[in-house]
Amino acid sequence: MGVLLDHFLYRDGALFAEDVPIAEIARQVGTPFYVYSTATLLRHYQLFDEALEGLDHLVCYAMKAASNQAILATLAQAGAGMDVVSGGEYQRARAAGVPGERIVFSGVGKTAAEIRMALEGGIRQFNVESEPEMEVLNATALAMGVRAPVTIRLNPDVDAKTHAKIATGKSENKFGIPISRAREVYALAASMEGLEVIGIDVHIGSQLTDLTPFEVAYSKVAELTEVLRGDGHEIRRLDLGGGLGIPYARDNQAPPLPSDYGALVKRTLGHLGCEIEIEPGRLIAGNAGLLVSEVIYVKSGEDRDFLILDAAMNDLIRPAMYEAYHDIVPVIEPAPGTPPATYDVVGPVCESGDTFAKGREMPPVAPGDLVAFRSAGAYGAVMSSEYNSRPLIPEVLVKEDQFAVIRRRPTFDEMIKRDTIPQWL
Ligand code: LLP
Repeated sequence: MGVLLDHFLYRDGALFAEDVPIAEIARQVGTPFYVYSTATLLRHYQLFDEALEGLDHLVCYAMKAASNQAILATLAQAGAGMDVVSGGEYQRARAAGVPGERIVFSGVGKTAAEIRMALEGGIRQFNVESEPEMEVLNATALAMGVRAPVTIRLNPDVDAKTHAKIATGKSENKFGIPISRAREVYALAASMEGLEVIGIDVHIGSQLTDLTPFEVAYSKVAELTEVLRGDGHEIRRLDLGGGLGIPYARDNQAPPLPSDYGALVKRTLGHLGCEIEIEPGRLIAGNAGLLVSEVIYVKSGEDRDFLILDAAMNDLIRPAMYEAYHDIVPVIEPAPGTPPATYDVVGPVCESGDTFAKGREMPPVAPGDLVAFRSAGAYGAVMSSEYNSRPLIPEVLVKEDQFAVIRRRPTFDEMIKRDTIPQWL
């Protein structure tokens, strides 16, 4: 795996998370569950931090990727800031001990209540996405007698060449303000007493496996910085978003590394003397997490075998939602030389979309065996639901030879008691 190490390796044929056997976690916690590696989280954070060395910078982890407070605290203690997109994420980051001055607030639909919460609790900056939002932010700040620090998110109209559902930098997307209107929008912002305009923000998409779209977008940002400075705006901070992709398939061509990305940032923007922020999510958390599941049945269909797992689309939605590929590996390796089997890998949820992989060639497994989905740390647990009244599955964090349940599985009783039956029934 080279530089992008993860710490989920086989020892004598058994899969480990750092120094803990996965089978031991399964025995104690039950399946399915998510497990994260502290060493992998920290390593990937540090790769970004090192990639920007020499520039005044802050790596703001996009906590939407994996937002358990134990993960946030791990990264925050290493120096990370956070990129949040809701009042809930803001509160969660604060609860995990992240100071307000290391939190940036992104998102197209921040409400006045969310804005007030962040202004009261402390915020590094708002990444503003529209004029109506600017008005609300201005009014809220003025009413509180403060000035809100803002960067304005510009839509550079760049094709990120990624899955359509996660591309954000084209003019047809809902994100940001068209770069062609930047000068008038900055002039408007400068006229608002409640705002302190400090910079520019861009984020063009997620799971980018080529640096070219970043290069095009950042070059536009560089040009615009000079233009806006010429108009009298103090542009001192550039938020460059997240988006660097990870290798999902072990055999595919690896995407560029954080060091390549850092070199690109320095090349395109380094001369401007700005403070640089980045918002990586997937690259920090993706390969730092596995989803572990048990085989319930192997069912022979007309022309194929179905591997029926106890995990389902409600636990990991990415294959159903984005046709995403996740490596699925046995927790105990078969004897060397065992021929592979081919399965459609599915969950127990009652719809055909509950399919993790079709015609997947993998080592043969049997009911009761454990399998692990690799690269499931980002956009896994956070996108899960209780569809089919399946409880949200536990999350476990490993550090060397220790592990802790960082979110326990709810009981059926807890789930059921959340509903209220009206008195007329
Ligand atoms: N900053 C902003 C403003 C974002 O919208 C995102 C992701 C990020 C940073 C982090 O991007 P990353 O470094 O993780 O690529 N659920 C999808 C991914 C959605 C990404 C949304 N925004 C998936 O499972 O592939």
